[in-house]
Amino acid sequence: MEQSIESYIKNLVRETIGHTLGELQIQSDRRVYVIANWKMNKNLADTAEFFQTIKSSDDVSVVVCPPAQLLYPAHLFISQQGKSIGLGAQNVHWAEKGAYTGESSASMLKDVGCEYCLIGHSERRQYSFEDDLLVNKKVQQAIKSGLIPIICIGETLEEKNLLQTEQVLFKQLFGALKDIDSSNFILAYEPVWAIGTGQSATAELAQQTHAYIRSVLKQIMGEKADGISILYGGSANESNAADYSAMPDIDGVLVGGASLNAQSFDGIINVFAKGEQNS
Ligand code: 13P
Repeated sequence: MEQSIESYIKNLVRETIGHTLGELQIQSDRRVYVIANWKMNKNLADTAEFFQTIKSSDDVSVVVCPPAQLLYPAHLFISQQGKSIGLGAQNVHWAEKGAYTGESSASMLKDVGCEYCLIGHSERRQYSFEDDLLVNKKVQQAIKSGLIPIICIGETLEEKNLLQTEQVLFKQLFGALKDIDSSNFILAYEPVWAIGTGQSATAELAQQTHAYIRSVLKQIMGEKADGISILYGGSANESNAADYSAMPDIDGVLVGGASLNAQSFDGIINVFAKGEQNS
């Protein structure tokens, strides 16, 4: 039977570049993440119970970021349970090693089972005075050491009210990604006014801001920006997760309060897993 023009072109493209344009589209689909940031909460017993209770998912990447002291036990619990859950630190130092009392290096974090690391969380920007320069040094060190940085950006309420959101995000993005060639990082948009307040950004506002973030990423890294997962964070929970998961530029959530309870965190994972199955 004669080939249609369409299948002729598809075959030609497949032979030339190894896949059809449709397949290319599938390959560039972004990974969806549901990430827990426990902040300064939980002890050893809570951690054991959490990993016993929580279910992993084949459809989304689940990552948990416990406090530094609980990283290695968490790694052991995850391995014991045989669950497909990634481990992330909440912070990393910019130097490889040395006289930095109380800090953790990227290689130490890798050594205890971490694959990911939050960098530039607004609480660290606020309480530990981290600025864009420091965030950039940390991102450089994480990437060099093989940790995947989860870079957090977001405007304060005051900046939002002054209509400076885009300006702030632009500066934070260019600052964090200065001299970074790799596209092996995740972004988390966490408006400071939505963190721990119950005042989550509407899915529409978050989508609009994520689209802006992606447009800035395109200026920085060109078409590779389409492959970067951008997560929303700020009072995300089981009830609002479906609204976020329906948005084209929201590739998951970074969850604080609602990640402390394994059942509610599971609920959020399920919402995003269903979204992926339907897509
Ligand atoms: P909440 O989900 O408690 O608002 O915290 C968000 C956050 O800061 C995650 O990093």
